[in-house]
Amino acid sequence: MEISLEGKVALVTGTGPNIGSGVALALAKYGAKVACNDVDDSPIKACVARIERGGGEAMAAPGDVTDEAAVQGYIGDVLERWGRIDILVNNAALLGGRGVLDESAEFFERAVRVSALGYFLNTKYVARSMAERGIKGSIVCMSSSNGWTSSAGIIAYAFNKGGVNNFVRAAAMDLAPYGIRVNSFTPTAPNPDNPELVAERARAGLSPGGILNQRGGGLGGPTGDEPWRRPVRWSGQRAPMIPMGPTGTPTDIGHAVAWLCSDYARLITGIDLVVDGGARAKNFAYAPAAPEDLAGPLPLIVLDETPPAYTG
Ligand SMILES: NC(=O)c1ccc[n+]([C@@H]2O[C@H](COP(=O)([O-])OP(=O)(O)OC[C@H]3O[C@@H](n4cnc5c(N)ncnc54)[C@H](O)[C@@H]3O)[C@@H](O)[C@H]2O)c1
Repeated sequence: MEISLEGKVALVTGTGPNIGSGVALALAKYGAKVACNDVDDSPIKACVARIERGGGEAMAAPGDVTDEAAVQGYIGDVLERWGRIDILVNNAALLGGRGVLDESAEFFERAVRVSALGYFLNTKYVARSMAERGIKGSIVCMSSSNGWTSSAGIIAYAFNKGGVNNFVRAAAMDLAPYGIRVNSFTPTAPNPDNPELVAERARAGLSPGGILNQRGGGLGGPTGDEPWRRPVRWSGQRAPMIPMGPTGTPTDIGHAVAWLCSDYARLITGIDLVVDGGARAKNFAYAPAAPEDLAGPLPLIVLDETPPAYTG
């Protein structure tokens, strides 16, 4: 028995080079045709090219997820070209930001709009297209570990990801009568594995990203330096944090999302799926063994075979 999305059409929003592109590639590798959305053209082009390089079929679906007319427009384009949408992955979000003492009203409003209105509008119009055609589809909303617990320095992100989690349960109830499933997926600081992104970060002298390094710090933008300020996070050496070693990669997320969108998951709705090596299950007072003492997970089943020559 093989998981197959053959004959299905997927729309992925926010196909930036990290998670969005990884999930879009996975859905294509499992057989779906994939429409790639973003508010910027360059991530869309790169994602479409990555899917086609891997032998899949993709189209561009450009537009701002918070603009109702644009959402209806690109969903209409996908329906015109491929006649149906079976899978929606609400992934577009604004990461980063600042803490409650420092965040601006403008950023807070925009970040919440992208997740709240963006997820709502895409779910509304894709679900309508599914219901009209009798398609028993699957909708996946990207949450975050910061939607369940939180960190200092990301007040808008924490607010909107917390909202995503209950949006999923409510939409799952609305759409259950139509056989349409709605679930969240929680990425937990995956280590980027898109060869183009990894090469680009290396050229810029940056680490690959994710939480590979053992120094503290983590998320959150700059704060003020008034004399009354107190540090909000530990900045020294960290104890090991992940029971199995790594939190995974966008490829791990892609395999799990593809399965969640397959017919094997036919009765799974209103849940959250997490791939994180046990990070979120961990009690706050327990530090796992050192990575070098762990057996580690099974080897990753790679989806992107881009030759190193391509990424320079
Ligand atoms: N990277 C992580 O460590 C991490 C951890 C947990 C959850 N997540 C979640 O996973 C998802 C993807 O994360 P990522 O790291 O790949 O993010 P990213 O910033 O690399 O990509 C997000 C993409 O969304 C696009 N976007 C932003 N606003 C948009 C709009 N209004 N309309 C259309 N597109 C828009 C951006 O242009 C970008 O290409 C997000 O929902 C994020 O919250 C990420």
